[in-house]
Amino acid sequence: MINYCEKWDLNPLLLPRHIGIIMDGNGRWAAKRHLPRIAGHRKGVERVQEITELSGNIGITALTLFAFSDENWRRPEDEVGGIMGLLRWYIRKEHKRIVDNNVQFRVIGDRRKLSMDIIELIEELEQDTEKNTGMHLSVALSYGAHGEILRAVKKIVDKVQEGNIFKDDIDACTFESCLDTQGLPPLDMFIRTSGEYRVSNFLLWQLAYAELFFDDVLWPDFDSEKFISLVRQFSLRERRFGMTSEQIAQKIVAHKHY
Ligand code: FPP
Repeated sequence: MINYCEKWDLNPLLLPRHIGIIMDGNGRWAAKRHLPRIAGHRKGVERVQEITELSGNIGITALTLFAFSDENWRRPEDEVGGIMGLLRWYIRKEHKRIVDNNVQFRVIGDRRKLSMDIIELIEELEQDTEKNTGMHLSVALSYGAHGEILRAVKKIVDKVQEGNIFKDDIDACTFESCLDTQGLPPLDMFIRTSGEYRVSNFLLWQLAYAELFFDDVLWPDFDSEKFISLVRQFSLRERRFGMTSEQIAQKIVAHKHY
């Protein structure tokens, strides 16, 4: 069996457990080539497949990809239709591979706005992978963090009103258990491609302690080498979580996880 960390010269102990990516720049990639925008999205899907497979191979626990935001519904109808068509194609084509590769698939976001046949494809894949034990692959669709946080608040209010929890017992864990990302490890690494320096309503709660990486490469050009180079940079960052460098050094010596 290939040891992918060795192959890519990565220290498995210093990998991010959860990576979130804003896959930006598909439209500009297409425009540079005088192609329709959908050609950029199509190439983008190829990168989704490549980066997902690579993430699983190097041992990433969770990968969350921003495929379509709440705000993206405002795009021209033909582009929205094109992206939805690609999603359909992707889920149908990848279903078997995702199941066989032991991936745990989920869609985060307000799926009620999606068409019924896409919802069915998603639910089928979620059910078929719920007993898998490998990498968590989450696709953010019709997703916005404000919406996610508001849905979580409403769930908590319901629990309080039903007498299942007391208001004073609400803490960060309670809140996280009501987010779409419940059960996933904390977000360690955020990547946005295409040279835009924004987080655009993506995983706002989860970003609290993530390391941020902004890269100029357009998503359709974001290849394995680029991804690995950012993961390697992540390994070199000192994450202090409010502590001092000395405390962190002691923890590393003691091989403690924090
Ligand atoms: C941002 O580029 C990209 C999107 C809004 C869509 C991303 C969708 C995919 C990669 C395909 C579907 C994904 C899956 C998981 C199958 P942009 O169009 O905003 O680019 P621009 O800023 O250059 O115009």
